Amino acid sequence: ETPSISLNPSHKLSKINDNIYGGFTEHMGRCIYGGIYDPGNELSDENGFRKDVIEAFKELRVPVVRYPGGNFVATYHWLDGVGPKHKRPRRPELAWIGVESNEFGTDEFLKWCEVVGTEPYFALNFGTALAWVEYCNSSKDTYYANLRRENGREKPYNVKYWALGNEMWGPWQVGQMTKEDYAKQAYQWAKALKLLDPSIELILCGETGFSSWDTYVLKECIKFDLHGLGGSNTASLISMHSIHIYTASESHLPNTTAPRAAERAIEITAGLIDLARIENKVPPTVPRQTICFDEWNVWDPTRAPGEDGAEERYTLSDALAVSVWLNVFIRQSQHVGMANIAQSVNVISPLMTTKTGLVKQTTWWPLLLFSKYMRGHTLSVHVACGEYEGATEPAWIRGTIETPFLDASATIDDSGWVSLAVVNIHETSAFETRLEGMRAEDVVVYTVTGANVKVVNMDGQQEVGIHERNWDGKGTISFPKHSLTMLRWRRT
Ligand code: AHR
Repeated sequence: ETPSISLNPSHKLSKINDNIYGGFTEHMGRCIYGGIYDPGNELSDENGFRKDVIEAFKELRVPVVRYPGGNFVATYHWLDGVGPKHKRPRRPELAWIGVESNEFGTDEFLKWCEVVGTEPYFALNFGTALAWVEYCNSSKDTYYANLRRENGREKPYNVKYWALGNEMWGPWQVGQMTKEDYAKQAYQWAKALKLLDPSIELILCGETGFSSWDTYVLKECIKFDLHGLGGSNTASLISMHSIHIYTASESHLPNTTAPRAAERAIEITAGLIDLARIENKVPPTVPRQTICFDEWNVWDPTRAPGEDGAEERYTLSDALAVSVWLNVFIRQSQHVGMANIAQSVNVISPLMTTKTGLVKQTTWWPLLLFSKYMRGHTLSVHVACGEYEGATEPAWIRGTIETPFLDASATIDDSGWVSLAVVNIHETSAFETRLEGMRAEDVVVYTVTGANVKVVNMDGQQEVGIHERNWDGKGTISFPKHSLTMLRWRRT
């Protein structure tokens, strides 16, 4: 049977939140220092910000960037990183076992966000949270708001998104907690933070979305907000629940099917959030985009250890895995309010800096295509083709979710452009495919592929990029072996 893909541009599923194209910059490895901040380099501006990195963020239209960690935030005190630079203390850094100079801190990051045109999203630790929100957001005559003024910033920054800790369940975390302790503390801090600034949106610290931690903390913290501090979007103090997943495998098919685990995680988390709401009698939010997938990517920490700066060298296989990840976020747009690739520069990143320029890894190209074109509304899309039936990573993918060789998602934007993204994960077969239910004419076809699934874009090689051509929309279309194809046409 000829493989087929059907979609109807009228069958909209849900509005896509632009924040699914979020980034993440942590004080880790060369992400901040030597990444976004590189004073003295002739590629940097008067603030020390790398101009080529800023341009890359603008090209990707990154709407929101998480900061300053990650694990880094566990022992970070934001006060160390504000005020005159020569007075800022150098501190031992315990997450990645280094030294933090504090040369780059809150005001520098928020300035950088303004230059890039992106929104900040801060992860906090409980000890220092209230004063940090006051410093960033208060317009009152109070101590930390005045400290901000002294440091040269009169108007509040109005940082909207704040995460209630990072991976607080993790044994590597300084300040690791039990789910019971976390739920109790997170709820009390949420109350205090919302009393200080009701306009902020709080993100609860989850795990993978399918753990007893997630089940418990949701049940305890998604409660009807008696203080009425939730704002218009929610009747709970908590706006979103965060989950983290990294995928990786040395074998191509497990590598490219692994992101399907994230799809199941989103579905399960959405169910757990609904359950907590139903049991605690909290009215649902509209839209129901209550999952913040604030760390996702391909990462194998044994291949690229965090302590060494986690500089992954991405293959074509990884680029296809990232493409499947992005298909997942498009397909699940009804649930995902934000997603942040971890990370955005040098550390597990599609973008690498050298002293003299930028390297765009294989994974940059699918990210660019999706971020440029897959916006607007998700469309319902059905794929009929063979399924991969071998081992998966993790093994439980098999039996919980399908793994077709063609992994697809589709969108329609506000100007009527339809985009269909199709990842062919097969290593040796192209699929000659019939498109059904749509009148596609004057189609622009973008393809991301390479000689084999192991090729990389490092060491001066540029093996993977975007190839563009036109197609009249007639007959079948071939999706080449190990490729991402994006088709774009205007709805007639
Ligand atoms: O992104 C790298 C690290 O992975 C983050 O610091 C942490 O939150 C996660 O374990």
